Amino acid sequence: MSAILKVSNATMQFGGLVAVDDVSVVQREGEILSLIGPNGAGKTTFFNLLTGVYKPTKGQILFLDEDITNLKPYERVEKGISRTFQNIRLFSELTTLENLLVAHPDCNREGLIESIFGRSKLIAKRSKVVEDCENILEMIGLKDQELELATNLPYGKQRLLEIGRALATNPRLVLLDEPGAGMNGLEKEELSSLIINITKKLNKNILLIEHDMKFVMSISDRIIVFDHGVKIAEGLPEEIQNNQQVIEAYLGRGITDDEE
Ligand SMILES: Nc1ncnc2c1ncn2[C@@H]1O[C@H](COP(=O)(O)OP(=O)(O)OP(=O)(O)O)[C@@H](O)[C@H]1O
Ligand SMILES: [Mg+2]
Repeated sequence: MSAILKVSNATMQFGGLVAVDDVSVVQREGEILSLIGPNGAGKTTFFNLLTGVYKPTKGQILFLDEDITNLKPYERVEKGISRTFQNIRLFSELTTLENLLVAHPDCNREGLIESIFGRSKLIAKRSKVVEDCENILEMIGLKDQELELATNLPYGKQRLLEIGRALATNPRLVLLDEPGAGMNGLEKEELSSLIINITKKLNKNILLIEHDMKFVMSISDRIIVFDHGVKIAEGLPEEIQNNQQVIEAYLGRGITDDEE
């Protein structure tokens, strides 16, 4: 199986703090890879290195065999990497559909930005772009709420809309930063099916950060564990669950706990 992502010896230092410490990760095409670890372990910082928010102090990032280490965030989106954020970042005063439209690569080309912000008969403009975005809304279960303002959606649905927005950029690799945070059991089951559909039906790759161990263990093909910026383990879910170093990193928290 070929690699979609290959990170070699990535380090991110903030002053005296080494948030990511000499980490190497390979994600194979088609797999759901999860990144777990205690609070402050460096998981989100690792995503920020992949998306270009930070340039690594050291190391190299290859995406589909191309060196993207020095590319800007928007260039990485164009290459096919998109993400959701740990804290929801939507355009709260735009509708559900509009939140996807602004992320769609063809939106500018079709002059839709103008129509969105001018609110001029957007829905009448049944372009391919609108159709693409409506298909995504269907998939994430928000088609019936396409005209609802994002701010009016319940929290769990806002999280789904974040995933939809990430899909609207037509990525190859989707980075999900704690997509299940704040969701109830039923919402998490739906999220789990959605993630599986994104990989199996849309053939996209998922790199997932999640604290809910039951969720992670059931959905992941492989799991990588960070602690204090260091990759301390990597393996199949059952291997990770029984790894002594991993259990110790979670001591006092309980690796099977459902956490925020
Ligand atoms: N821009 C920054 N400047 C300084 N320190 C930072 C910065 N970003 C992150 N850190 C620090 O790096 C460490 C790793 O943070 P990070 O957010 O990556 O952890 P995390 O594994 O995502 O944790 P959580 O599970 O709580 O989201 C923390 O000590 C954090 O305070
Ligand atoms: Mg984080």
